[in-house]
Amino acid sequence: MPLQPTRDDKFSFGLWTVGWQARDPFGEATRGPLDPVEAVHKLAELGAYGITFHDDDLVPFGSDARSRDGILAGFRKALDETGMVVPMVTTNLFTHPAFKDGGFTSNDRGVRRYALRKVLRNMDLAAELGAKTLVLWGGREGAEYDVAKDVHAALDRYREALDVIARYSEDNGYGLRFAIEPKPNEPRGDILLPTAGHALAFLHELERPELFGINPEVGHEQMANLNFAHGVAQALWHGKLFHIDLNGQHGPKFDQDLVFGHGDLLNAFALVDLLEHGAPGGGPRYDGPRHFDYKPSRTEDYTGVWASAAANMRMYLLLKERAQAFRADPRVQAALTESGVLELARPTLDEGETYRDLLDDDRGFDADAAGARGYGFVRLHQLAVDHLLRA
Ligand code: GCO
Ligand code: MN
Ligand code: MN
Repeated sequence: MPLQPTRDDKFSFGLWTVGWQARDPFGEATRGPLDPVEAVHKLAELGAYGITFHDDDLVPFGSDARSRDGILAGFRKALDETGMVVPMVTTNLFTHPAFKDGGFTSNDRGVRRYALRKVLRNMDLAAELGAKTLVLWGGREGAEYDVAKDVHAALDRYREALDVIARYSEDNGYGLRFAIEPKPNEPRGDILLPTAGHALAFLHELERPELFGINPEVGHEQMANLNFAHGVAQALWHGKLFHIDLNGQHGPKFDQDLVFGHGDLLNAFALVDLLEHGAPGGGPRYDGPRHFDYKPSRTEDYTGVWASAAANMRMYLLLKERAQAFRADPRVQAALTESGVLELARPTLDEGETYRDLLDDDRGFDADAAGARGYGFVRLHQLAVDHLLRA
C-alpha cells in the first residue's frame, strides 16, 4: 500500500497547528508567522484534503471589514487553486483576556453574550466556506477554585448557548453538525465536560441532541489517564463520533500535542484499526475527516514543521497498513475466535428467550470450568504487536 497520502484519505489540519509559532508559558515564539495561503498550498502539496481554523486564526481578532474581505478572498483563491476543502470550523473563545473566566459559562453575563455572538458570526463564515461541522472546544469553560464556579448554573448556561447555536444553524438552513471537544484541564485548572463520557451524557440534555456529537482528541483523554480507543469505540456505538482530533501524548501530564502515534503507539494502532474496520464483531466505521490537531515541537524550524505534518499522515497510513495485515491474518482470526472476542457479538439471550427461560437454564453451565478457562489474550495481543513491528 502506498504511503503517499491522497485526497481520499481525508487528512485535514488545523491552521493553528502548522501555524503555531511555538510560544509557550516559558518562552517566546521560535518561529515566524505563517501565511494561511501558504499553509493551504503546502498542506495540499503534502497530500492533505482539508484545512480547518478558528475564526481568529484566519482573520486576526479586531480586523476591520476591509482587511477581513481581503484575507478571505486570498484564502478562497488558495482553496480554489488547490481543491482543498474546509470540513470544519471552530471558534476562538480562549485567547482574548475577556474569556479568562470562560465564554458560554463566564460568570460575567456580558462576556457570555459576546461569546455567543462571536460563534454565531463564525457560523456564517463556516456555512459560506461549506464546512459541515462546527467544533466546540470550551478550553476556558471551567475554574481553578471549586467555590468560584457554580457548576450547576454553568451547565445550564452551556446548554442555553448550544441550544441557541443549533437554532441559529437550523433557522438559516446551514445544516451544521456540532462536535463538543472534551479536555480535562489546561488552560483551566478544571474544564467542564472533561472527558468523552461527560460530553456524551451532556449532549443528550440539549434541545436538538441529534445535531450534536463529540470531537475527542487522543491526548485529552490520555491526560485523564483514559483509554482513547475505548472512548472512540463508545462514541461510535452512540453514533456520536462527529469528528476526531489525532495527535500523540505520553500519559497524564501537560497537553503535549505530539505527532499522531508519537505517544502511545499501541493504542494508536487499535484506534486506526477501529476507525478503518469498525469493531471486530461488527459496528460502524468512521468516515469523517482524519484531522490532526498537533503542535510542531518548539525545536523545529519550518522545514521541521512540514516534516512533522507529513509524519502525521505517514503514521496514519502505516498504522492503516499494519491494521489491514492484522485483520487479514488467518492466525489472528483464529485467535479472535479462540479468545471469545467474536463471540461477544452474539446476544446473551436467544431470540424470543425471556428471563424465565434464562432462569431455567442453570444446568449446562459449569462455573469451575469457566473459571479454569484460559482466554489467550496475551497471545492475541502479541500477534498485534508482531504485525505492528512487521515481525
Ligand atoms: C487543545 C485543543 C485545541 C482545540 C482547538 C479547537 O490542544 O487544547 O485541541 O487545539 O482542538 O482549539 O477549538
Ligand atoms: Mn490538545
Ligand atoms: Mn483539539
